[in-house]
Amino acid sequence: MTDEPIVTTITTYEEAKETYRQKDLRQALYDAGEVIMADVLVNLHGAEHRDRRRLENRLFRRETVKLYEQDRFPPIIEATLAPDIAEGRTELVDIGHRMMMNLAALTAGVDRPLGTAEETRHLYHYLLVFIEGATLAHHTGDTEAKRAEVARELEVFDQEFVTPSMERRRSLLVAGKELPRDVLSVLVSNDDALHLPHDVIVRETAFYLLAGAHTSATAFSRVSHNIFTWLEAHPDDAGLVHEDRSFIQRCTHETVRLQPSSPVAMRWALADIELKTGTRFPQGSKVVIDLLSVNRDPSVFGASAHEFDPHRTTPDGVPAYGLSFGSGMHACIGQDLAAGLLHDADADNDDHLYGLVPGAVQALFDAGARPDPNDPPVMDESTTRPYFGRYPVLLGQ
Ligand code: HEM
Repeated sequence: MTDEPIVTTITTYEEAKETYRQKDLRQALYDAGEVIMADVLVNLHGAEHRDRRRLENRLFRRETVKLYEQDRFPPIIEATLAPDIAEGRTELVDIGHRMMMNLAALTAGVDRPLGTAEETRHLYHYLLVFIEGATLAHHTGDTEAKRAEVARELEVFDQEFVTPSMERRRSLLVAGKELPRDVLSVLVSNDDALHLPHDVIVRETAFYLLAGAHTSATAFSRVSHNIFTWLEAHPDDAGLVHEDRSFIQRCTHETVRLQPSSPVAMRWALADIELKTGTRFPQGSKVVIDLLSVNRDPSVFGASAHEFDPHRTTPDGVPAYGLSFGSGMHACIGQDLAAGLLHDADADNDDHLYGLVPGAVQALFDAGARPDPNDPPVMDESTTRPYFGRYPVLLGQ
């Protein structure tokens, strides 16, 4: 007889917020994906997590996020889209992943010394393998064979990308020169404090690549789809796509609320815990935060909570994207980078940050994006998660 753990599922916003704050709940979501996720930030707990997070947080301060959004990302978005604009068509799943991978490589610190299309293809291949590694729990084929393949690919990724990127940063450090602003630089320059074995640095780098790229790429195709659908039913809003930069940001937040990249958060209870509502998590039990329900809680988001509405307003203190970036100690380190700052009085001044997903979707719509009437989108059959497999789009006039 197997001892199945007790599982408690949280479906309301208030209970979810309180659950995320519990210090005695430990990460459980990536237990099956340890080939990529063992000892990476999101899997650490307690002091170990706090120390690494504190160092990596330095990279995600407002002025660095602003530098990325306003200086570093726009040329990459433009260069990725340019050949497809010339051709008059693109495919959102593929271009979304390539674009977000280029952006994530920059923040992770994966150098591209050759800068060739061939090299980008290699990196893209690794990214797709790592995504499969991290989401092994949802894999529909032979899980053991996939795990072994991911482990092999991680080694080659290290030789081709991580070790050379580390060596370049070490040489800069020795020469007293400025290091690029990225996660790998933080790890290399804090080697004395962190003492991370090489394989952990490789996985942390791979994790940042996929944490930054996959979530944002999935959001990119979903936001675009939701805007197409919204404009069909609300043609009066068509002008907003070009005239009001905050419109696409609101569409992004609403999409991320309704279709969170991770539909659930999971934790193991390290002690007996009781929430204010009386809900209990016995020690050793599993807690599932069901974000699809939490982010549609009508007591917080109203009776129309399940509908996509970019004009929605949320109560004070409730982010427009709900809890899709988590909360508490593991709250997404890249949320401002991905989705910008929440709307407030400063929404239209130069300091407002819109986020890389809205920035990329804006560039797509500025290029005249519309669905291809002769080639409708299809879902990805290789996973039980609701991802688009192909989403053909026409560009230009
Ligand atoms: C639409 C885009 C994104 C979404 C929806 C998203 C979502 C999330 C969520 C839900 C968590 C918390 C997981 C948990 O509580 O178990 C998380 C953590 C994390 N995210 Fe994101 N993320 C996004 C983009 C990014 C980007 C662009 C980066 C990097 C530049 C990033 C890096 C991370 C890291 C490092 C963690 C772990 C934080 C920790 O454990 O302390 N994410 N993300």
